[in-house]
Amino acid sequence: MSLTAEEKTAVQDTWGVVAKDLKGNSIKVFLHFFTMFPEYQKLFRGFADTPMDQLPENRRFKAHAFTVVSAINGLIDNLDDPEMLCELLVKTGQNHAKRSIKIGDFKNLNDCLMDLFSKIFGEAWTPVAKSGWSKVFSVVLEKVAEGLKLNE
Ligand code: HEM
Repeated sequence: MSLTAEEKTAVQDTWGVVAKDLKGNSIKVFLHFFTMFPEYQKLFRGFADTPMDQLPENRRFKAHAFTVVSAINGLIDNLDDPEMLCELLVKTGQNHAKRSIKIGDFKNLNDCLMDLFSKIFGEAWTPVAKSGWSKVFSVVLEKVAEGLKLNE
């Protein structure tokens, strides 16, 4: 990945803020995702019809949000290991193809995260952090697309 040293530090530092409370922040990520794209809640059998204000207490919602955000945490932990990163992302694409998730859905998740980051990171959301995260997400999309194609 063509991240500059400054971009890599900015990505790791900003994610560090999220990782300090992975459980609490995973709930924020998914509430923001369903607020921006309400139609996606229907894809999740365990809480498809749960009203938004009850989601933070729903144990299935909490467990799922934590699982996904922990997986993103694993990606950020592996920024220095392209082989591992590639494998994790291709696998994510393969796992999601059987659920009929498309690359545009992953793009929407990336847009949701960029929007949330701009709101929660305050002054740490610098142009360098922004360009670093854009590069991370373009690699995510490229490799997930490869995985989706393998199982489509
Ligand atoms: C980098 C992005 C993503 C990661 C790391 C991720 C990770 C995961 C993981 C770890 C699981 C549970 C384990 C499994 O069954 O594979 C899961 C399940 C799932 N994901 Fe994702 N996911 C991502 C993006 C998305 C997107 C964009 C959507 C749809 C908009 C989505 C929809 C689902 C659904 C519907 C399930 C099944 C939930 C259930 O069992 O009811 N995921 N994801």
